[in-house]
Amino acid sequence: MLGTFTYHNPTKLIFGTEAMKSLATELAEYGPTIQLVYGGGSIKRNGIYDQVIAALEVAGKTVVEDAGVMPNPTVDKLNEGIKIAREHHVDFLLAVGGGSCIDYAKAVAVSANLPEDVDPWQKYWVDFDEPAADLDIIPVGSVLTMVGTGSEMNCGSVITNHETKMKVGHVFADARVFPKFAVLNPEFTYTLPKYQMVAGIFDIMNHITEQYFSGEDDNTSDYLSEGLMRSLIAASRAAVVNPRDYEARSNIMWCATWALNTLVACGKTTDWEVHMLGQAVGAHTDATHGMTLAAVALPYYRLIMPYGVEKFARFATNVWDVDPAGKTTEELATAGLDAMEAWMREIGCVMHTGEFGVTEDMFEGLADSTLVMQGGYHALTRDEIIQIFRESL
Ligand code: NZQ
Ligand code: ZN
Repeated sequence: MLGTFTYHNPTKLIFGTEAMKSLATELAEYGPTIQLVYGGGSIKRNGIYDQVIAALEVAGKTVVEDAGVMPNPTVDKLNEGIKIAREHHVDFLLAVGGGSCIDYAKAVAVSANLPEDVDPWQKYWVDFDEPAADLDIIPVGSVLTMVGTGSEMNCGSVITNHETKMKVGHVFADARVFPKFAVLNPEFTYTLPKYQMVAGIFDIMNHITEQYFSGEDDNTSDYLSEGLMRSLIAASRAAVVNPRDYEARSNIMWCATWALNTLVACGKTTDWEVHMLGQAVGAHTDATHGMTLAAVALPYYRLIMPYGVEKFARFATNVWDVDPAGKTTEELATAGLDAMEAWMREIGCVMHTGEFGVTEDMFEGLADSTLVMQGGYHALTRDEIIQIFRESL
């Protein structure tokens, strides 16, 4: 196992059908004013909002509402949230929702106590600065209702700027940005529309492959990744048939958290190019994150496969159970990606960016919005980026 690393993840996970019972106790550790962050209203329709409010009452908290966090949260919404946090001197941000709400809460948390003349977007998502050691970061916790991003147990925060057409993720190095706790009740995901469930499933798969497809050493992280992928594939097949299959939904939830909480990145350079391509599509179309990844992933992996063919062959046998008998390494590697494609079609992934409104005249702009990563098997040229967008259409 190559590489030197520190593994430190302070987020407390409370998992299972009884998880909500702990919310009031967890909140007792923090100050009296809670900024309650949520999205467009799904939590009001499925009853989660009422359960959260009941817990906040038991804990004796003052609630400041911050609703309307959109999928792919924007800089404008962030500025609104910062204003709320400043006006009410909030002590804690409770995000009830998916990655968008949690990412947004983290963004407010690191921004609310900045000097007023500092622009958070420029500081964190353009210059990639870290919060100063003496900056007061507001603690964040979450009740997860949409599974995929892993935001419940990581330091990532993805913000979209429609003006500059950039969707950027900052993975904070400051451990104070990790959520303090995450309430994980798999039943809370039952009301997700199938489209969102499948987007989340592919997001999880891609988080794992982004880390797996890097490096050539024998690395424990890759064995952990293979186990997570096998579990995810099995659970996803059950969940698309019966979305209320608790066993499947709980495994998907647990896979999501471990796919992106830094564990399987240990000792890995990691790639993340599919996310850069997908985020460019997201910045231009506002499409659902996981589906943007699905639409660009196969053209990307087929293009880079020759540069990491041994690993792609291992992926075929260890993840997809492709029989290596009679196949060259290249044939085996190709069969692994074919198996992934068949699975993606089976569960209902979006396979073409045209479905989000991408057209040929957008390729140059998409390429401008695509960051090129260096940690995978091949760093893309601009021509290759355009080729991938052409093949994804
Ligand atoms: O807004 P509401 O009404 O709540 O509806 C949401 C939203 O429309 C709905 N939803 C959530 N839980 C539901 C539900 N509907 C019914 N029942 C429920 N239980 O689902 C929709 C999508 O929610 P969202 O939070 O946007 O999804 P997701 O968790 O995929 O988050 C996407 C954001 O996270 C970023 C993405 O780029 C995107 O901005 N990511 C964050 C990462 C991180 N922090 O590490 C990594 C990821 O790669 C990703 O980039
Ligand atoms: Zn993702």
